[in-house]
Amino acid sequence: MNHFYIKDNRLYAENFLVEELAKQYGTPLYIYSKNQILRNYREINQPLVNSKLDFLNCYAIKANSNPEILRILSEEGAGAEIASGGELYLALKFGYLRNKITYTGVGKTDEEIEYALKENVFNFTVESLQEIKVISEIAHRLSLIARISIRVNPDIDAKTHPYITTGMKENKFGIDSRDILCVFEEANKLPNIDIIGIHSHIGSQITEVEPYIEAVKYLGSLIEKLKEMGITIRYLNFGGGFGVQYKNVISHRYIPDEEDENKAYASLGEHIQSVISLLSHLDKKLIIEPGRSLVANGGILVGKVLYTKQGEMKKFIITDTGMNDLMRPCLYQAYHQVVPVTLKDTGYETVDVVGPVCETSDFLASKRKLQKLERGDMFAVMTTGAYGYSLSSNYNARVRPAEILVEGNKVQLIREREKIEELHY
Ligand SMILES: Cc1ncc(COP(=O)(O)O)c(C=O)c1O
Repeated sequence: MNHFYIKDNRLYAENFLVEELAKQYGTPLYIYSKNQILRNYREINQPLVNSKLDFLNCYAIKANSNPEILRILSEEGAGAEIASGGELYLALKFGYLRNKITYTGVGKTDEEIEYALKENVFNFTVESLQEIKVISEIAHRLSLIARISIRVNPDIDAKTHPYITTGMKENKFGIDSRDILCVFEEANKLPNIDIIGIHSHIGSQITEVEPYIEAVKYLGSLIEKLKEMGITIRYLNFGGGFGVQYKNVISHRYIPDEEDENKAYASLGEHIQSVISLLSHLDKKLIIEPGRSLVANGGILVGKVLYTKQGEMKKFIITDTGMNDLMRPCLYQAYHQVVPVTLKDTGYETVDVVGPVCETSDFLASKRKLQKLERGDMFAVMTTGAYGYSLSSNYNARVRPAEILVEGNKVQLIREREKIEELHY
């Protein structure tokens, strides 16, 4: 059972009534379930442990970098995939070991590279020959060795939203597969560079195993070609991207079924198993970088209805939370189930659930069938533990929400609501 669930027509987070938490801490409010996050991590990690493969499971901390969530996963033994100097700082501060930190990103600055070299991060995932040359120069100046993995763009369709596809020709990520062998050859000649691996992250929210299988096969053949060139790769990193379910997360007779074009979700276990079986014969160390799959269904965003308004074309439910708290719907038309915290048999109406921000794109749900909501009613936007708070902003000079963590009967405020007096800092 998911740790967010309905009992007696009311939404719970572990042992707490969501409505009570929202009354106590105010709205908008992010609520996370520690047990859900732990379960997700173990579902991915345990098959790897059982497989006896040598592996690193590096949490992509961009998904949710709340200090307490970072700590939960570092205490479980996770490594970190970081995308900036700021994320390196957070990873080190909240318990991630240097030999489990891998640094990705197309645009690392010289200062960030120097910082990461001095902190001796385990790996730089590099995305262009120019970047490798810069890393080599800086490492040489500092008399340090940079361990690198070269990210290839395999031109594989991850069958996900175009904005979160990263492994196709038209994307900025990785090195064109036509150039990859030359880049390895050039990089191999550079001083203070140790090529330890090859990397390919083909996208996010991937719900089928086939794109991974294709990627692993492609990488396997590349490794063979590199071997012929005298370059031996020790690590195979295929990034993150495991998809999660956003529709019909909560089912109940007062909640309409959501039409889901994507019926066949691979479970985390299936995703990982498919890769394990392909990797066993390659005799390489494996790195994975899951983000969303560890935290997305471990969090909800709770908001309150401020007003309802009947327009000529549609009815609007105007709420106290919007695009500055949860950017995903406006950024890539992401779908999140909206669940009233108290379910009632009111029948359904079709509405747009919108935020208070001065943008037409400020919506949480569009043309959505929901029970009738009135001023003061509270609702949860489900599956918002990943790329929720971490993508939030102060747009319209709005303060970011509070974040709390529940674990059984325990609740902890893990980030205070911002105060308007802090806005000028
Ligand atoms: C290089 C890399 N690794 C891992 C991830 C995490 O992906 P996800 O959250 O889909 O698991 C990302 C996400 O953008 C990424 O760019």
